Amino acid sequence: MSISLKVKEGIAASSWVVKIFEGRPQTGSGDKEMYDFRLGNPKIEPPLEFAEELKKVANNPFPEMHGYSALAGHIQTREAIATTLSKERGLPFTAQHVIMTAGGAGALNIILKAILNPGDEVIVLSPLYLEYPYYIDNHGGVCSVVETNADFTLNIDTIAAKITPRTKAIIINSPNNPTGTIYSEESLKSVARLLNEKNRQFGKDIFLIYDAAYQDIIYDDNKIPDIFNIYSNTIFAASYSKPLSIPGERIGYAAVHPAMKNSGELMEALTFANRVLGYLSAPVLMQHVVAGLQGVCVDRAEYQERRDMFCNALRDFGYAFIRPKGAYYIFPETPGDDLVFTQELAKEGILVLPGKSFGRSGYIRIAFCVKKETIKKSLPGFKKVKDFFKRNAKAK
Ligand SMILES: Cc1ncc(COP(=O)(O)O)c(C=O)c1O
Repeated sequence: MSISLKVKEGIAASSWVVKIFEGRPQTGSGDKEMYDFRLGNPKIEPPLEFAEELKKVANNPFPEMHGYSALAGHIQTREAIATTLSKERGLPFTAQHVIMTAGGAGALNIILKAILNPGDEVIVLSPLYLEYPYYIDNHGGVCSVVETNADFTLNIDTIAAKITPRTKAIIINSPNNPTGTIYSEESLKSVARLLNEKNRQFGKDIFLIYDAAYQDIIYDDNKIPDIFNIYSNTIFAASYSKPLSIPGERIGYAAVHPAMKNSGELMEALTFANRVLGYLSAPVLMQHVVAGLQGVCVDRAEYQERRDMFCNALRDFGYAFIRPKGAYYIFPETPGDDLVFTQELAKEGILVLPGKSFGRSGYIRIAFCVKKETIKKSLPGFKKVKDFFKRNAKAK
């Protein structure tokens, strides 16, 4: 049997991802209870409105309700989203700027398919969502990784240094997976100034792909700057997976800035990509459901409670980290090698991911979208492992 060498390499490099999806632990830890913080698969149930809307749609069937929708999605759903975007952003979005997709991942893939020529470079910021390099490679692009600062803020100089005449796009994910960072308005404006300057220099229009997977999961009184009012060559990749706690339903959308040059051609390309990547159209039942759920979100307080519980305990145990402002991940530093630290935690039944898998060694990622009980029970293990490393450091 011969499979693609590239796929073979991908499987070898990320076999642990498959294990996580199958719910299998990475390390044998005997009969210990396991506390799994590896995956951003929320254990918080969808808001009640979701079940109500689902029932409403199911109880009011109409002809061809389960047939293929238009390739860009149902016009009513796209209009509902455009109306929400227009209200929120003060820009004239219409259904012609919105395309329904199979989740945020589907949106990112059709965007990259629509814009990339072989060898085009896409800048991603590290630590990064671990699927970006694969998605870019799917469509013949070259992933160009730029480190963020030690506090995970944007470093405009390092981004500038990576922009070349082959740069086609930059992906920005805020609130960020894995760090929980929300990039400030000032830093996003600096990125926009830089891109505009490079656009003039190279005579092109670099796209800013804004991955908004966690746009509704924000804490305290943090606000997310509106990227559409900062850079006009923006393509937005949004998802209902996290705000509605329905990642298995695979529903999201892409939206293009109303003032973008040639937005009609781009929408045509996105629609073509939706078709030829085999999605045909986004899951149609969910298209009907989310049309009526604009602005609905899980109770953010539930996540904030978990974040506070975790952060306060980890801080007491001596872990160093930046308190997440959004999304549902904590990204603490590890004393020494993150793989070793991950393995020590696994001996206590605690499963987290090493920073290496997000492009930054010396950290672990903890997904706290779990039951409160899981967090509570895991805390002694987190303390024990941290104490163990502290004692070892002293002994040296
Ligand atoms: C940063 C980021 N982007 C995109 C996605 C994909 O989301 P979806 O489930 O909507 O495809 C995820 C999923 O965890 C994510 O963390």
